[in-house]
Amino acid sequence: MAPYNPPLEGRGAKLRLDFNENVSGCSPKVLEVMRESPSRGFVATYPEYSEARRKLGAHLGVDADQVIVGAGTDEVISAVIHAYVDPGDEVIIPSPSFSMFKFYAQLVGGVPRMVPYRGQALSFPTDEIAHAVGSRTRAILIASPNNPTGGVLTAEQAERILQVADGCAVLIDEAYFDFHGQTMLGLLKRWPNLFVARTFSKAYGMAGLRLGVLASQAGNIDVVRKGQSPYGVNSLAIRCALAAIQDTSYVREYVREVLRARAFLYGSFDELGIPYWPSCANFVLFELGAKTKHACIALSDRGILIRDQSANIPGTARVTVGPLAETVRFLAELKGVLNGGP
Ligand SMILES: Cc1ncc(COP(=O)(O)O)c(C=O)c1O
Repeated sequence: MAPYNPPLEGRGAKLRLDFNENVSGCSPKVLEVMRESPSRGFVATYPEYSEARRKLGAHLGVDADQVIVGAGTDEVISAVIHAYVDPGDEVIIPSPSFSMFKFYAQLVGGVPRMVPYRGQALSFPTDEIAHAVGSRTRAILIASPNNPTGGVLTAEQAERILQVADGCAVLIDEAYFDFHGQTMLGLLKRWPNLFVARTFSKAYGMAGLRLGVLASQAGNIDVVRKGQSPYGVNSLAIRCALAAIQDTSYVREYVREVLRARAFLYGSFDELGIPYWPSCANFVLFELGAKTKHACIALSDRGILIRDQSANIPGTARVTVGPLAETVRFLAELKGVLNGGP
């Protein structure tokens, strides 16, 4: 299988608009928890998760036994795949989407079945996914909002897939939920094959701490837990997450700022004649055609990282949206690059 080789090193000194992190950082309440020096006993003891499962469950509106934590959403995605997919089984993935879906499917010997997003609008391919479900399908992995297209699927579309794929694990990755506000968690009671994942890496600004959450019916959670390390998430990440969910106003304010900056970005792209796909998340996919590669490199030279998406959709790039000042800086540099600057 092809290695996943994202440009991960040396990003710290640049404006990081390439990985959809919260570029402002986490709530000050999280930093307070990190500054309180924990006792030697706290550091020396293996982590415990029951309080976290109860509180994170309450935060999501589900019971403690319907939730597990993982070292990032990455780990819970991997755990679901490990639990349900055997070598040779098929995993349906609408494409393009988050690269780790395919990566983890291949890692267990699964066969990824990529179903393209539909047409120029890149709309959600409900019928195509429904038709792709076959006797070897074991899992369907969907990000909503989707990275990098920014689109979502509706509850109606989700239910159609859950119905057709009644013997498969259907994972809806809501990593960008906070920027959109609509969740499939409400469908968990009705659909025993539904899994919903959330992360603290995006709106919460805690990507470095690595914490993801998975919710499903309790029986499924027991199955997924069987294959997990008992101590995969460290104690400090848990403490920080519990502080973060109490500071709801921090996330609300950040999301408001992102939505304001995103509207400004759309307006500026319109003025510049740059086509883009309206997004429900904190990033926007846009089209620079043959100039894409040069623009991404030139922006990096100017201290701004964005993500070339040409391998997924030719001639496109994805930019993270954070506070307005960052978007303004990105646009100023982009204009410089497109006007023939270095
Ligand atoms: C759809 C999606 N899911 C999950 C992740 C990663 O989340 P985590 O940092 O919790 O592993 C990303 C990051 O880009 C993403 O785009």
